[in-house]
Amino acid sequence: MTLRICHRRPAALPRFYFGAVYYPEHGEIETLELDAERMCSAGMNVVRLAEFAWDLMEPEEGQFDFSLFDQTVAYLGARGIESILCTPTATPPRWLTLKHPDIVKVDGQGRPMRHGSRQHASYAHPAFRDYGQRITRAMAEHFRDQAHVVGWQTDNEIHCQIAEDHSVAAQVAWQEFLRKKFNADVAALNHAWGTQFWSQTYRAFEEVPTPIRERPTHCNPAQLLDYSRFMALAAARFQAEQVQILRAVQPRWWVTHNGLFARIDYRGDFGRDLDVLGYDVYPMFAYEPAERGATQALWLDAARAWTGNFLVLEHQSGPGGQGDYLLDNPEPGELRRMAYSTLARGGDGLLFFRWRTCRFGAEEYWCGILDHDNVPRRRYAEVAAIGAELSRIGPKLLGTSVHIDAAIAAADLDNTEAHAALPLGLPSPWQLTGEVHAALYRRGHAVGCVHPEDDLTGLKLFVIPHWVIIYPAWVPALRAWVEGGGTLVVGARSGTRDLDNNVETELLPGILRDLCGVTVIEYGKQNRPEERPLELDILGKPVQSRHWYERLELLPGTDALATWSSRHLIGAPAVSLRRLGTGKTIYVGTYLAGAVVDPLVAALAELAGLQPQLLELPRNVEVVQRNGHGRTLWFIVNHAEHAVTIPNVPPGYELVSERPTTGSLTLGPWGVAVIEA
Ligand code: GAL
Repeated sequence: MTLRICHRRPAALPRFYFGAVYYPEHGEIETLELDAERMCSAGMNVVRLAEFAWDLMEPEEGQFDFSLFDQTVAYLGARGIESILCTPTATPPRWLTLKHPDIVKVDGQGRPMRHGSRQHASYAHPAFRDYGQRITRAMAEHFRDQAHVVGWQTDNEIHCQIAEDHSVAAQVAWQEFLRKKFNADVAALNHAWGTQFWSQTYRAFEEVPTPIRERPTHCNPAQLLDYSRFMALAAARFQAEQVQILRAVQPRWWVTHNGLFARIDYRGDFGRDLDVLGYDVYPMFAYEPAERGATQALWLDAARAWTGNFLVLEHQSGPGGQGDYLLDNPEPGELRRMAYSTLARGGDGLLFFRWRTCRFGAEEYWCGILDHDNVPRRRYAEVAAIGAELSRIGPKLLGTSVHIDAAIAAADLDNTEAHAALPLGLPSPWQLTGEVHAALYRRGHAVGCVHPEDDLTGLKLFVIPHWVIIYPAWVPALRAWVEGGGTLVVGARSGTRDLDNNVETELLPGILRDLCGVTVIEYGKQNRPEERPLELDILGKPVQSRHWYERLELLPGTDALATWSSRHLIGAPAVSLRRLGTGKTIYVGTYLAGAVVDPLVAALAELAGLQPQLLELPRNVEVVQRNGHGRTLWFIVNHAEHAVTIPNVPPGYELVSERPTTGSLTLGPWGVAVIEA
């Protein structure tokens, strides 16, 4: 079983999982009986185990001891709680880092990582890869016939702490990667990277260093993009070695990994090796309370864009703190609000992080469901109430997917990294996705994120914010979708770079010129927009642009949707509209940022025929429709601190309160509802 890449793909899981991350090695074993009883009372059916317990499972090289997990898995399993095991490679044991001191990653400042935290070992190091496979095989063979082990998580949040590596092992692997990529022809590398600039020419692959920024100044952007691709491939290969073992030992297991982090291509090899992608949800990282609903929605939509519905292996269950920060403690009702948002927007299972707060180590204030003293209080009661509701609602989610009408392009490694390689002080594609997403979300539209290569069927509006790399293979499908009635919006600077991250010499917007019906004849950055303001008229409303301007020339058959109205640009088209088949393409000659966003999104929504999901939806109320398997589920989440009445809710049966719906619905502060229509 491998992932089919589609934002509407339901997770390939046999049941709805609800549970917690459990650490017998942190002392929870001492209260196993009580814990199991409490988990059962909270409606839990799964735990995740062992992701950092390598030292315990292989205390000396080649000596394995799984007794703690044998006991835990068997005891919980007998009470209906299944186990997800993890390969423990995020934290190699001390004997390994002592035996192979060069196993550690080296960061961009040349600092070798050190034993004592986590993710310090190099995915490129042959010895680490070998030891990783050995512990994976030993665990897999040991638990092969344990029926209560249902699935596996590989490692833990690869690239969460550090997404670069300049160790000797990484250098060697990087050179191998390049040799393969350029078919052993170093002249091809020199050509692709333009190494004649600043005398970089290489005579052999062994001469090519990993790029380190600002040593002393800027690096070659083509080299940087290839380095990101290399890091992604090294992570994927490291994981693949473990996945192959797990699948060979016990084909009934499903395999996941908890992302999403830099320099990993979850749509590529890394994701294709998994049955389901995992995503860890910590909404309180959005510090601004009023923004949390919208921010969580954006993160979840972006997660779904990679491979579809996801399994939440860690969900915030309390205040979390490490180092120099401590997140807010969710107030009464907020765990529920956050959990329902997560399930609404693609979660097909949910485990809270963590069962009980650990009283030692770097995360002794990363609070779980239970406090250090193991007394069940408010958070436990809330989790148990959610568990009772989800025992009815959870199974209905399986096989359904999130309905969206409008999407913003996301989930692309190349574009994230191409921008990062040469940002020019401009906002990242991700920041701009966030701005457009927030505007559509606030207007109550069914918004999500989708990769341009994905199936766009069912979408009315698709926005590619400012993606400098557009693969030629995406264009015919985009065009066919437009001709069939879609409204495509392309932001400034799209398609300006080639696949090597060098600048296009074609007339801009390059490969999109014909589809959009425009040519960019001049562009410029706005560094002091307050001092040299540039205004454009969007349907009679003057708004100031930020960051960027383009002067467009319209090809025959293309109209101006908005025009510049100040300085040297007066009268020049700023936003174009081309009708193609029964659809439209709109090219935006500025950044989809700041004051431009709201009026432009309003105009685009109208052009695309978008309707809000429910009429007269109050502010701060999130509505999401999941459908499939002959079912439609309407999630309604109140992100406001006060009660709200939502008129015009669909008729059906409300599954949380277990009552039929009739016209309107009142939700208390942070209240939630799921209507089966
Ligand atoms: C996640 C990680 C967990 C734990 C948690 C709280 O990123 O996977 O191991 O560290 O955050 O910090």
